[in-house]
Amino acid sequence: MPPALKAFLAQLLGWLLAAGLARFGLLPAELWWLVGAQAASAATFAFALRSAPWWLPVHLAFSPLLVAANQLGVPPGWYLAVFIVLTVVYWTSFRTQVPLYLSNAETVAAVAQLLPSGRPARVLDAGSGTGSLIVPLARQRPDCHFDGIEAAPGPYLVSRLLARGLPNVGIVRGDFFARNWSAYDMIYAFLSPVPMTRVWRKARNELRPGAILVSNSFEVPGVAPARVIELGDGRGTTLYLYECGRDGPSAK
Ligand SMILES: C[S@@+](CC[C@H](N)C(=O)[O-])C[C@H]1O[C@@H](n2cnc3c(N)ncnc32)[C@H](O)[C@@H]1O
Repeated sequence: MPPALKAFLAQLLGWLLAAGLARFGLLPAELWWLVGAQAASAATFAFALRSAPWWLPVHLAFSPLLVAANQLGVPPGWYLAVFIVLTVVYWTSFRTQVPLYLSNAETVAAVAQLLPSGRPARVLDAGSGTGSLIVPLARQRPDCHFDGIEAAPGPYLVSRLLARGLPNVGIVRGDFFARNWSAYDMIYAFLSPVPMTRVWRKARNELRPGAILVSNSFEVPGVAPARVIELGDGRGTTLYLYECGRDGPSAK
């Protein structure tokens, strides 16, 4: 079951149980007892549904914060505004399980070192966010071409703005799984553990021998990287390099 559906179900069941307890007089008739019972039940249902452990504090805090915020009397338009901003930035993260976070300058420098010197290369940033990798790389290497594919409209628009005037950058909105990768020498992915097996399968099937997949922070499960680069930056970034042309090793 998708995590977002589990979360919805846990909240719903939490409210049904808390309302049932209140109706049969098993809870004191006070709002905070009802809210507390809902929060505890929602967390318990989430645990029973085998949600990831970090969901449990989210369920424990969700309804109490909702009720507390409601008591502050914030005009409803603010909630709508925050909802719209989060939607535009995170878009389908609830489904892809890949949120937005950005590659830093140390990562850009390390990826620049991986580009071939003295000859052009074609690079795809799969899930290019605000262009924080491809825009500075395109400035450093005008002989190379950098493409980005980004699903979320907010980061996509920012990246288009930042890449203005760079003839060696192409950014499109869409799903990187739906596009062919065979033209690329390097695929860069800074995603999450969730899509890595699928990313690897696509890279292995579509890339030419000699092309590489560079994954920032997330390993492909069951596949030994050809090289691991520790950047020693504040975040402890690790780059995993996979040689993924048709001759490369296969995913388990
Ligand atoms: C962690 S951010 C990385 C952004 C950028 N690559 C960087 O390094 O700064 C991952 C991005 O991938 C996007 N994304 C996730 N799955 C995607 C998909 N299937 N197609 C296109 N974009 C996707 C998300 O919207 C998010 O902006």
